Amino acid sequence: MKIVSIVGSLRQDSWNHKLSRLAIPMLQAQGVEVVEASLAGLPLFNGDLDGGEYPEPVAALREALRPADGVLIAAPEFNHSIPAVLKNAIEWACRPPNTLTDKVAYAMGVTPGKSGGIRMHLHLSDCLQCEGCWVVPKPLLLVPNAASVIGPDGELLDAAVGETLQEGMTRLVDTINLMRRSPV
Ligand SMILES: Cc1cc2nc3c(=O)[nH]c(=O)nc-3n(C[C@H](O)[C@H](O)[C@H](O)COP(=O)(O)O)c2cc1C
Repeated sequence: MKIVSIVGSLRQDSWNHKLSRLAIPMLQAQGVEVVEASLAGLPLFNGDLDGGEYPEPVAALREALRPADGVLIAAPEFNHSIPAVLKNAIEWACRPPNTLTDKVAYAMGVTPGKSGGIRMHLHLSDCLQCEGCWVVPKPLLLVPNAASVIGPDGELLDAAVGETLQEGMTRLVDTINLMRRSPV
């Protein structure tokens, strides 16, 4: 099983990058091959570049997604929605042949403020579902007050969040396995 990990923040010290790094070993422990796909370097989507040879960072993202069973996305909420870098990546990924269709997705987020990013989650789920992704509905992992949950070196400070994260990663794998089951 292969899962692509995407972070919707380009920031060096991103909380969401730290969250994704806490999740990845939980997937690997279940035998999953995890590929971290960077959104840095993606050009803005431009229909003039569509349909021919994709720019290299776009081709790399699409090539990572194409054979994957699932996608793990950690993203902050920006302006009560999803970060532009993430929306831009979805625009590139969905071009035919759509590299998101029938992928199982788990979306999560962490923010330093009081909102965990529920509006990001709602908007992201809509964007993914409209491209044929199956978004794992629960458990929701939208973490406020980042500094009290993740330490400066990325260490987990909150056991309850760790349990929810583990449950989410188990459900992501279980859902992929359910989707793969042969019809009777
Ligand atoms: C342009 C911009 C818009 C933001 N809008 C929101 C928001 O709507 N809700 C929220 O909880 N935090 C918002 N924030 C704060 C981010 O959650 C915070 O910067 C977070 O650390 C970014 O994620 P990262 O640490 O993974 O880079 C915003 C930050 C920026 C730069």
